Amino acid sequence: MTIYLATVLDTPGDLGEDDGLRVGTDLALVVRDGVIVARTDIDSARRAHPADALVDLRDGILLPGFVDAHVHFPQVRVIGGLGRPLLDWLAERALPEEARLADVEYARGVAADFLSGLTQAGTTTALVFGSHFPRAVDALFEQAEQSGHRITTGLVLSDRLLREDLLQTPAAALEASGELARRWHGRGRLRYAITPRFSLSTTDEMLAAAGSLLAGDEPGTPGDLWLTSHLNENEEEIAQVRELFPAARGYLDTYARHGLVTERSVFAHNVHPEPEELAVLAAAGAAVAHCPSSNGALGSGMFPLQEHLDAGVRIALGTDVGAGTGFSLLKEGLQAYLVQQLRGRDGVTLTAADLLHLATRSGALALGLADQVGDLSVGKQFDAVRIRPPQGSTLDVALRHAETASDALATLFAQGTPADIHEVWLAGQEITHEPSMTTAPADEENAA
Ligand code: GUN
Ligand code: ZN
Repeated sequence: MTIYLATVLDTPGDLGEDDGLRVGTDLALVVRDGVIVARTDIDSARRAHPADALVDLRDGILLPGFVDAHVHFPQVRVIGGLGRPLLDWLAERALPEEARLADVEYARGVAADFLSGLTQAGTTTALVFGSHFPRAVDALFEQAEQSGHRITTGLVLSDRLLREDLLQTPAAALEASGELARRWHGRGRLRYAITPRFSLSTTDEMLAAAGSLLAGDEPGTPGDLWLTSHLNENEEEIAQVRELFPAARGYLDTYARHGLVTERSVFAHNVHPEPEELAVLAAAGAAVAHCPSSNGALGSGMFPLQEHLDAGVRIALGTDVGAGTGFSLLKEGLQAYLVQQLRGRDGVTLTAADLLHLATRSGALALGLADQVGDLSVGKQFDAVRIRPPQGSTLDVALRHAETASDALATLFAQGTPADIHEVWLAGQEITHEPSMTTAPADEENAA
């Protein structure tokens, strides 16, 4: 048993709720076997558990661990390829790097860098776009099992229109996905997500294979797998998808026709949805991962949040590294806020509590993990981050002068970076993770 004494902020209710921010000043969280068993005051905690360790975290703010609902593991080393729209960025920056993960040693280094990036940013749970190579996906699962992160990921599926070395047949994809899912799904904190890259790079046959896995129709394969993909991100992409699937009612329907739109489905972006698509997403209980920094970096557009909320679509936040500009859900929250401000009358003015909800509980809900993580209530896992900026830093000064907890939280989203994350716990264990520290691959001309 450990007693953590802290100023705790979390958002256990619904997104957009008035007074959604719960403030625990000098709160004692009693943690046993990684689970919060009491939320009380220090005297009561001490009386009930006189012999147990007390950890004083009152310098700083304790938040639930962040939840990233959309992030690409193979892209950690190519963050920052600015100045290109989606399809050029994929061809020139993302896919050449993703092809390097055919080398499993290289993939292991990337997995280490990726998990280190999550830890540094205070991200404890993530829905992760994996690799096109099964052994690279194994490498990520193996290392996540060591580091302790709650990771849902899988083999990325494509059978057309990408570079040849990233394609596989639907039959091979089905077999490799099933094998990985049987090995990893439900093992500790790990789960498997069926991951068609996007309709542009998948035929109906491939999407049907994904549908068969998701429906649990593959003998011996778990029936409760997750699904993630991309949706309505970029206007050129959407136009090409419409041409490739003339019989589909729209982009979402390319997935829906194969049973891929369910409450275990998370679609990234959806910057340009049709009203009918929002209704289908809401009725299915599928979630959308909003990735504002990526949408800005690739010029994809300004997310219509109000339309999603009006339609009742579940929303979470994704960094979309490496089109996104880093692993920080604090930055992603700020970007979500700024985009809505820029939408003017069509925008939603997000409160600090909304930003925290989006970065934590919204993600837990979208990933079906809200009974375990996303807030710091009794019965939840002690997945937490302590924000403690360097003394005298501008954020430190602003926090010390904040008049309300909501003001403190707002300045935290405005200014916070991974440098301000002091500790990270997963199920009560403090985690650290070293990057691989490998250098860039020698380019062939210079290697000799
Ligand atoms: N659509 C298909 N692949 C990708 C990707 O890697 N990043 C983003 N942002 N969109 C995609
Ligand atoms: Zn993405």
